Amino acid sequence: MKQFDIAVLPGDGIGKEVVPAATRVLNAVADVHGGLKFKFTEFPWSCDYYVEHGKMMPDDGLNTLQNFEAIFLGAIGNPQLVADHVSLWGLLIKIRREFEQSINIRPAKYFKGLKSPLVNPNDFDLIVVRENSEGEYSESGGRIHKGEDQIAIQNAIFTRKGTERAMRYAFDLAKKRRGHVSSATKSNGIVHSMPFWDDVFNEIKQDYPDIQTASYHIDALAAFFVTRPQIFDVIVASNLFGDILTDIGGAIMGSIGIAPAANININGKYPSMFEPVHGSAPDIVGTGTANPIGQIWTAKMMLDHFGEYELGKKLLDVVEEVTNDGFKTPDIGGTSTTDEVADEICSRLKKTA
Ligand code: NAI
Ligand code: MG
Repeated sequence: MKQFDIAVLPGDGIGKEVVPAATRVLNAVADVHGGLKFKFTEFPWSCDYYVEHGKMMPDDGLNTLQNFEAIFLGAIGNPQLVADHVSLWGLLIKIRREFEQSINIRPAKYFKGLKSPLVNPNDFDLIVVRENSEGEYSESGGRIHKGEDQIAIQNAIFTRKGTERAMRYAFDLAKKRRGHVSSATKSNGIVHSMPFWDDVFNEIKQDYPDIQTASYHIDALAAFFVTRPQIFDVIVASNLFGDILTDIGGAIMGSIGIAPAANININGKYPSMFEPVHGSAPDIVGTGTANPIGQIWTAKMMLDHFGEYELGKKLLDVVEEVTNDGFKTPDIGGTSTTDEVADEICSRLKKTA
């Protein structure tokens, strides 16, 4: 019996609604498989925890999490109790940074039964590999002088290590997908870091002769996400470019409630973290209408991370089938509740056993 030890952090708001729904689905996946089990250990770290203890998690929280194989997170944030920058930096960002989760991946695909804002969504199925630790989002720089003499300098940091790490991750991922990697560059306008990015890309691709490649300037690439997303398989992008692209990716799918993400620790030293793209949605908390698909798709990414690709594929196929058959929460045009969607997924999964 294979067992995966998972730290579960439901967090705040609808995190506490969609996480139990998704762990129920994961247990159904384990039942279908037979030889596999999930051991969930739940931690109440959240804004409520902050109100009681004056911090988002205990001082030895990271030590505790370190021993798990993955972290399954809902959402963090309750601005009525704790300022967003305090809650986010006190937990989420801390985990991402300290656990060297240097790659962020976000898939986007045409989802059956979902209304994409694209007129002709075709059949796109892509994944963005975003460098998550450096690039344009750096603390290097500063501001000097006052008034009209003010100067702001913001340095983008591209290390050989960080760039190569993201690219190799993208190429390895493409091997398991359709064998194509697109690089997001802007070497026509950004004359130091982006030609460097291109050089590394051109060098790394020599190690992957079976993978096809393309390189696009980010502006054109962003437009192609809207006009012909079906041409993409894996896209590797810097921190800023990846951030922007993944929002477009979420948008063309049709709802933020279904978009998943994974923060990957690439050296295996620390656990990776799986979370939906959406936040704690205070406006719908308690109504039972939160869409659980983002959290469930994140669970699928966790299965992939564990090497359980077939199970992951089976899970996502069932989710799409359930959506296509009209079991949908209001954000995607249905009338089902969070639990009804999860229950339907569980019962269909069991039928595939
Ligand atoms: P949000 O993603 O929580 O909500 C934006 C809109 O999308 C709302 O109208 C919400 O009802 C809807 N929505 C989100 N997820 C949904 C789902 N699963 N099903 C149906 N509708 C859904 O973003 P917002 O309102 O900007 O932030 C709320 C709180 O969440 C803040 O405290 C913010 O800091 C936090 N947040 C946390 C994130 C995280 O933990 N990774 C990410 C984004 C925001
Ligand atoms: Mg963003």
